[in-house]
Amino acid sequence: MRKNILMAGTMVLLAVTVIAQQKKQIHKTLPVTAKSSVAAGEDVYTQFCVSCHLPDGGGVENMNPPLINTSYINGDKARIITTVLNGMSQQEIDGERYNNVMPAFNYLTDKQVADVLTFVRNSFGNKKPAVTVADVKATRVKLVK
Ligand code: HEC
Repeated sequence: MRKNILMAGTMVLLAVTVIAQQKKQIHKTLPVTAKSSVAAGEDVYTQFCVSCHLPDGGGVENMNPPLINTSYINGDKARIITTVLNGMSQQEIDGERYNNVMPAFNYLTDKQVADVLTFVRNSFGNKKPAVTVADVKATRVKLVK
């Protein structure tokens, strides 16, 4: 019994260490301003995105696309910002089709959109430059209201 508790304790400690290590890795590759953006973006993701795209960014087959190494994640910043602000449906994504509809998130602030996309672009194995508040601002003014 004692041994089991000890084992469980060790496992938890190990898991915490691994997660902390992964977090550090993100932090090593991004400039100082982007680090806080990733942290804030994780909160936005948990609140608005995780229900469809899931905690590991893997999505749901035929329903919601993954956010891992897609042409959207890796592509032009303006396109991915537009996706979040306007929502998206019925598009083919890297040769696949998904039945669900992504709602528009135009009520999020420029900072929330920048943070969540910086988080997504530096999580789940993705490693792309940060999306800034200025990027979001510039794209938002071009969209039809
Ligand atoms: C109700 C479910 C739902 C929610 C919530 C949602 N999405 Fe999506 N998302 C989708 C679907 C479905 C598509 C694909 C739509 C299509 O097939 O045209 C998509 C597409 C995308 C794409 C482009 C395609 C790709 O795989 O790279 C990105 C980027 C994205 N979503 C990011 C987000 C972010 C960031 C949030 C949170 C702010 C979010 N989504 C919230 C369902 C959702």
